[in-house]
Amino acid sequence: MNRLLSALVFFLFIVLIANHAAASSDVAFPKDWKKWSSVNTPLTEIGGLPGCNADVSTLPPIYQETVATYCSAREGGPGKVAVLVNPYVLNVYEAHNGKYPDGANVILHLKDMKVLFVLGHKGGVAVYGVFTETGGDIATKNGPLATKTCVNCHTAYKAFCVNGQCGRIVKKR
Ligand code: HEC
Repeated sequence: MNRLLSALVFFLFIVLIANHAAASSDVAFPKDWKKWSSVNTPLTEIGGLPGCNADVSTLPPIYQETVATYCSAREGGPGKVAVLVNPYVLNVYEAHNGKYPDGANVILHLKDMKVLFVLGHKGGVAVYGVFTETGGDIATKNGPLATKTCVNCHTAYKAFCVNGQCGRIVKKR
């Protein structure tokens, strides 16, 4: 009986480890995200992420790829977004120089979907996370919500992205 029990505990332990390896964000959830500063970027100017039928042919390729990646996340597209910057690094976002300290730094808030895309840094290098508004880690192993998908796009477009930051501040019209 004892052996059965320890076998069971061992099994549960393995399941937990396997699950953890399957999906996890590479940056900690920023608990104080509601107090971060909202900034105006090209994407917030557009008003959000549209659905798959939207004509995005006039947008730069990185924005077209972003729409293609996320347009089917929800009927009609992901919808409204906000870009929230940790107040301590607002100057870095403005300067777009990539000189971010370690920790969570910038959030793309998918407001209608109640999801937070988080950009942080570890040892000076950009890392990513996907969370619910209450901190549930919903990064997946593959697909649009996998951190490797974030890395791919955020490093591929060198004219736009500096150390993980692809947006920049646009003056409100
Ligand atoms: C296909 C390209 C693409 C993919 C994939 C992608 N992003 Fe982005 N991301 C962008 C672009 C373009 C912007 C800038 C939007 C703007 O104008 O504010 C952006 C903005 C952001 C921002 C706001 C800070 C900034 O860069 O200005 C965060 C945070 C972010 N993304 C996190 C993520 C996370 C986390 C993932 C993966 C789950 C991800 N992104 C996947 C293209 C992408």
